[in-house]
Amino acid sequence: MAEARPRVWVSQPLFDDIVGRLDEWFEVDAAREVTAWSPDQVAAKLRDADGAVVTLNEHIGAGEITGATRLRAVANVGVGYDNLDVAALEARGIVATNTPDVLTETTADMAFALLMAAARRVTEGERWLREGRWRQWSFDTLLGGDVHGSTLGILGMGRIGQGIARRGAFGFGMRVLYHNRSRLPVGIESNCRAAWVDFDTLLRESDHLVLVLPYSPATHHVIDSAALAKMKPTATLTNIARGGLVDEAALADALANGRLASAALDVFEGEPAVAPKLLALRNVVLTPHVGSASLATRRAMATLAVDNLVAALGRGPDAGRPPTPITGATTAKR
Ligand code: DGY
Repeated sequence: MAEARPRVWVSQPLFDDIVGRLDEWFEVDAAREVTAWSPDQVAAKLRDADGAVVTLNEHIGAGEITGATRLRAVANVGVGYDNLDVAALEARGIVATNTPDVLTETTADMAFALLMAAARRVTEGERWLREGRWRQWSFDTLLGGDVHGSTLGILGMGRIGQGIARRGAFGFGMRVLYHNRSRLPVGIESNCRAAWVDFDTLLRESDHLVLVLPYSPATHHVIDSAALAKMKPTATLTNIARGGLVDEAALADALANGRLASAALDVFEGEPAVAPKLLALRNVVLTPHVGSASLATRRAMATLAVDNLVAALGRGPDAGRPPTPITGATTAKR
């Protein structure tokens, strides 16, 4: 009798042609529409699966894998994997993978788009115009801050942070400062024309601060009211990483009270819900977690996730050697 084919679950619609590649080796249960799976539903899906392709929407922790006795691999579509309890997966010998590198430049582009929109009040101006409030060209309409020649601060200098640094240094003549737990090798610093500073100096000196660091309990609300108080009142804050890095109530207060010029947020602590206080403000640019959302990059992410799963389940040309496994601690993101 032929051996039963492994079963895999794909939690959200990706690209049919890319997901379709799984059919060669596996019985595939692929979501046909965007679905908000409850933890119990995730657990039920994993119970029958040998492998899964999941997104940041699905939390995979000890509870979800308790009954998943066949599960051998979880391929996350995304570079950030704070939705995975890597320690719990490792303890069960389940391979976890993510999708680094393929989204670096696209996400760095978006960080810059957001930074510029916040500095030059792009979405605020558009809303004002659409509201019919533009009566006549005037000299002091919507004055913003300059990007060129200003100081760019980057908190979290992984691959995406470095891409943002290069854009700032070489594209806009910015002075680039960064803070990381550890300083990067001098060669990388000079490739990005970036200088390491301590956290307080980064806060104090940045004209435009961009968050690109991994989210974990250690980085929860790293930007809180105390951090915001150290920033220049003319500064902008851009968050392209994870919502939990920012105390949104403190940020909304700072924006409302003129203690910070503007912000741009692509990620939110309770997404898709956005704090009403932020929604009510004009000086914050809000986008729905689309940092890596170019068509080419999303296809590359789906392809890498599928390649990872195939290899982790011992099939295909890289059998047993998934291209981008998550190894070790749970905090690495970018
Ligand atoms: C990422 O890759 O981490 C993006 O935020 C999408 O998951």
